[in-house]
Amino acid sequence: MSISILAIESSCDDTSAAVCRDGIIVSNYIANQSVHEKYGGVVPELASRAHMQNIVPVVDAALSSANCQLSSVDAIAFTQSPGLIGSLLVGAQFAKSLALALDKPLVAVHHMQAHVLANLIAEEKPDFPFLCLTVSGGHTQIVLAQSPVKMKVIGETLDDAAGEAFDKAAKLLGMPYPGGPLIDKHAQQGDPNRFKFAEPQIAGLDFSFSGFKTSFLYFLKNAGKSLVYKEAFTATEEEQQQFIKENLDDICASLQQSIVAILLNKLKKAAKETGIKNVCLAGGVSANSELRRSFKTMGEKQGWKTYIPAFQFCTDNAAMIAITGYYKYLHKDFADLSVVPTARAEW
Ligand code: KG4
Ligand code: ZN
Repeated sequence: MSISILAIESSCDDTSAAVCRDGIIVSNYIANQSVHEKYGGVVPELASRAHMQNIVPVVDAALSSANCQLSSVDAIAFTQSPGLIGSLLVGAQFAKSLALALDKPLVAVHHMQAHVLANLIAEEKPDFPFLCLTVSGGHTQIVLAQSPVKMKVIGETLDDAAGEAFDKAAKLLGMPYPGGPLIDKHAQQGDPNRFKFAEPQIAGLDFSFSGFKTSFLYFLKNAGKSLVYKEAFTATEEEQQQFIKENLDDICASLQQSIVAILLNKLKKAAKETGIKNVCLAGGVSANSELRRSFKTMGEKQGWKTYIPAFQFCTDNAAMIAITGYYKYLHKDFADLSVVPTARAEW
């Protein structure tokens, strides 16, 4: 018997719906919200309103492109947490209403587990156990996945996420939100060895990006002359802007290389400590071209089998919710209709 899962993702500023049939993604629709661009970040209230507008057409599109009737769906999966509470409420309430009306099981999905399981969408899947470096706008984690329903975070950021480090650095460079992809674009033409940024010395498998962000700020305030804080910055506002303008590509390439090195050095340490050689990437920052390239190179050197989800399954999408929903369905891990979304969630 074939199993069809309809999935809804609304944790941040993308409204997405997908259909998965027997573990294969047959449709995945995403409505992006351009309304936030002019504010330099996601405005939660506007995100919730846009989800309300987008959710019906996005679910309709996912169903019709999968040639799937609502009546033939076997379960409804939705993102329960973590995320913006107003955004999560729209998707959760929609999913619960559908489950109630259709009398079908409801599957509550953890957004970060779904990012990890995006690696099970491709035909070539990692064997369990595997390690996954999950890098997004809100999270930076090293996850040990023992099965589709058993995962453990073995390292994570103590402050900012890798995506935030990209976005905040981009903002200092005068780029619009989200700046991560723009840094990637400029870095293609730049020299990654031109400027050096120190790697934070954090014990174990954890990360920290707040000190790194501050040293980048000082670097710009001193127009590249020093990373060290001086009470009076050595450069005027005009000199700083001139420095950025003349060196943008090299700054982006150097910054990007440093962030990627911080991430991959910890991943290498995790692989050594656990002895696991199946290694995956996940999350929005895994769309970064330098991270993808260096990860593959490191994998070859270390003898890992490496996996990266297809580009469209790295950033937020409902396909990853659908695939997670499918495995949870097989484990009969269903949610009660009284389930509520939460902004933060333990694993
Ligand atoms: O997973 P995601 O789509 O949303 C969250 O759950 O946070 O990740 C979004 C993050 C943003 O910080 C964005 O700047 C970053 O992923 N990002 C990138 C690239 N594409 C997206 N960062 C660096 N290079 C990219 N190419
Ligand atoms: Zn995400």
